[in-house]
Amino acid sequence: MYDVCVERPEDTPEVEALYDLCFAPGRTALSSYRLRDGVPPVSELCLIMRSTAGGITAAIRYWPVRIGDALVLLLGPIAVHPTAQGEGLGAWLMVENLDRARAMGWARVMLVGDAPYYSRFGFEKLDGVEMPPPTNPDRVLGLELRPGAWVDVSGPVERETRPDVLAGLAEIVETPSLHADCVEIDPERRGAGAGPM
Ligand SMILES: CC(C)(COP(=O)(O)OP(=O)(O)OC[C@H]1O[C@@H](n2cnc3c(N)ncnc32)[C@H](O)[C@@H]1OP(=O)(O)O)[C@@H](O)C(=O)NCCC(=O)NCCS
Repeated sequence: MYDVCVERPEDTPEVEALYDLCFAPGRTALSSYRLRDGVPPVSELCLIMRSTAGGITAAIRYWPVRIGDALVLLLGPIAVHPTAQGEGLGAWLMVENLDRARAMGWARVMLVGDAPYYSRFGFEKLDGVEMPPPTNPDRVLGLELRPGAWVDVSGPVERETRPDVLAGLAEIVETPSLHADCVEIDPERRGAGAGPM
């Protein structure tokens, strides 16, 4: 069993340590990190999974980015502790959090990752969407959360700096219910939902 919670500032060092453990050294030099510089994350979608023993076992974060005028969710990083990989935790976070994003009204999501893993969640290669170099175009993947949301969306992916979008995200961070009680989940009961959080 795990507690799923929205990441709080005090969780951040532990989440960073998990990412350091799970990714190759130099991960923050990747071009996708430049899109996150100085931009607040989409807080209500940044989740941690804490085991009953206490440590953070998995984490997922999201940032806003834009392509032309289109607002896009950038998924990642997502990581599961090596001792718990292959138990369905990654899939649970993907499925439940994408449902949450859809319910929040997000239209489209993208990531840079391995198609053999993410295709099982419906992600497909995004032709015409350009991540800052050097990024392998075959790893630029997208998913529609609303039908047709990727139609006619192409071009370079840029940092989201529009004041109205950033103000909306900041408002959510200050919502008291955001950091309400964590929800206990059993990943084997996928689809049961994480309840209000
Ligand atoms: C990728 C990751 C988040 C998946 O989480 P997880 O909890 O281990 O995954 P699940 O248990 O939901 O799924 C396991 C399945 O995914 C497959 N899988 C895991 N990573 C994969 C990859 N990079 N490419 C293809 N398949 C992958 C496993 O082989 C397994 O396949 P099976 O169902 O056929 O046995 C996790 O392995 C991880 O943290 N890896 C290191 C960090 C990383 O690469 N993050 C993603 C960045 S793009």
